[in-house]
Amino acid sequence: MRTVTSSPRTPVWRSTVVLKVAMAISGLVLVGFLLAHMYGNLKVFAGQEAFDEYAHHLRELGEPMLPYAGALWLIRIGLLAAIGVHIFSAVTLWRRARAATGGKGGSRYASTQAKRGSQRGYASFTMRWGGVVIILFTVYHLMHFTWNNVAPGGASDSPYERVVNGFEIWWVVLSYTVALLAVGFHLRHGIWAGLASLGANTSQRRRRQLNLLATVVAVVITVGFLLPPFGIFFGLVG
Ligand code: HEM
Repeated sequence: MRTVTSSPRTPVWRSTVVLKVAMAISGLVLVGFLLAHMYGNLKVFAGQEAFDEYAHHLRELGEPMLPYAGALWLIRIGLLAAIGVHIFSAVTLWRRARAATGGKGGSRYASTQAKRGSQRGYASFTMRWGGVVIILFTVYHLMHFTWNNVAPGGASDSPYERVVNGFEIWWVVLSYTVALLAVGFHLRHGIWAGLASLGANTSQRRRRQLNLLATVVAVVITVGFLLPPFGIFFGLVG
């Protein structure tokens, strides 16, 4: 007798379980990047020399075993892979959930008050729309600080000056604040959901601990990132 364990049309690597685990692991890699990036940004409070030296040092990592900026490129490739896996799994799972529920979302969110017969749901809203805001922000952010093709406040060869020039302008501070709030809400739900996908949600007590951990990490990252823009805007830097 032949035993069929999964649909012959869905390869194992695209099964819902594998995609959820891939999404959780790639998300945790991105959380690691954010923690390191946020910590590095705080060097702006140590002054121009310390910040520019840090930006320069990032490019010298791994020398002479690796060429100049070699380690940075390895990190970039890892980041791009994590972002690609994260977005691919998110879109595939989202489309699958839509198809499975006739475009209405899960019955968990069923509501007689909502127009579509289901609530928009705090989690689905912050994850999907928050994710879109984060992608748009990242492109703008790279244009601002990495590719240097937008320079609010004035261009400079010094990374410190680029950061300080930008955050002296209110709308730059405001746009970063909006993006970082989206990042914060996305992390608050995403860290909890990712750890649950990896099997950590084993009891009520553990559930409370995971929620607390997710809140603490999200708040630390959001507040840590917001300190430089607000510090600069209110004249506490330089
Ligand atoms: C106030 C908040 C932030 C500030 C001041 C800031 C500052 C910077 C600076 C100065 C660089 C250029 C580093 C260099 O080339 O030496 C950079 C790169 C980058 N930032 Fe941010 N950043 C912030 C928030 C974020 C957030 C929230 C994300 C992700 C959602 C992010 C993602 C990146 C990425 C992907 C790079 C490119 C790294 C590379 O490949 O060189 N940043 N950031």
